[in-house]
Amino acid sequence: MRRILITGHLGMLGSELSLACEDQGDEVTGFDLPDVDITNRARVLQLAGDADPEFIFHCAAFTQVDQCESDVDKAMRVNAIGTQNVALAAESLGVPMLYISTDYIFDGTKPAPYDEWDVANPQSIYGRSKYAGECFVRQLCQWHYIVRVSWLIGRNGPNFIETILRLARERSELRVVNDQHGSPTFVSDLVPELLRVSESGAFGTYHITNRGFTTWYELAKQAVALKGLAANVVPCSTEEHPRPARRPQNSRLSPTLYALALGNEMPAWEKGLKDYLKS
Ligand SMILES: NC(=O)c1ccc[n+]([C@@H]2O[C@H](COP(=O)([O-])OP(=O)(O)OC[C@H]3O[C@@H](n4cnc5c(N)ncnc54)[C@H](OP(=O)(O)O)[C@@H]3O)[C@@H](O)[C@H]2O)c1
Repeated sequence: MRRILITGHLGMLGSELSLACEDQGDEVTGFDLPDVDITNRARVLQLAGDADPEFIFHCAAFTQVDQCESDVDKAMRVNAIGTQNVALAAESLGVPMLYISTDYIFDGTKPAPYDEWDVANPQSIYGRSKYAGECFVRQLCQWHYIVRVSWLIGRNGPNFIETILRLARERSELRVVNDQHGSPTFVSDLVPELLRVSESGAFGTYHITNRGFTTWYELAKQAVALKGLAANVVPCSTEEHPRPARRPQNSRLSPTLYALALGNEMPAWEKGLKDYLKS
């Protein structure tokens, strides 16, 4: 039993993580809007002190990648300054924290998967704000884990698979980008790994995603086929599907240090997808 503080405990990842902690007997305190705004430093420090956690998972973030482009202040306030506040709380209480980061801190130009030690060069406001959050965690909190995930898919949130399945029921043809490469990270596979990492004492920065690489098009095609839907999934390029925020073409994260330090126990993305669709 541990006393755990989870920021963003009502979000897609935080909600499943909270349940998993409670299932194993942990006492969970959640920080989320509207009750606790992580950008309010005094309140974060005070409420974190009241909760007296033994570990902090920091999942809260402004995650609307395109909206971050038009609301830079909010992106930086929540993802950078909010993370600064959480890191200060962890350090002042003398407890370790785990910060969830993203593949979007890389520019996507490397011709191979990104290792944990590769140099960040975010191309979007969201990526810059999450990377600023990483820097605060490293500077301010001595005992920290930073876990970078990509293409997060969980039961309790809007996500790519749900969008594709909804569109496949409404339309006969879907066009999905086929030139962005990466790995989905299914929340139900990630959560047990986050718990394992948090108890390991192997502090550092890790890449954790489901195994294997794919494209959004391949992922959509498989999801539609597994659900037995008739819609035709057609590949297209990022240029044909412009969005306000630039996405890395190569989002592939290599779990090199994670595998060496802890052993990579994540299942292949194809299994993660089947399990997700069954649930
Ligand atoms: N989704 C992805 O594909 C993806 C990929 C890579 C990394 N990540 C990272 O993974 C983590 C979890 O993502 P997710 O998809 O579970 O996000 P999510 O569903 O959007 O959950 C984030 C939670 O944080 C809350 N929040 C936002 N601003 C806050 C503030 N100022 N104070 C307190 N709480 C606040 C949100 O509340 P509201 O809903 O009310 O705003 C929401 O409940 C994030 O750190 C994200 O950056 C996500």
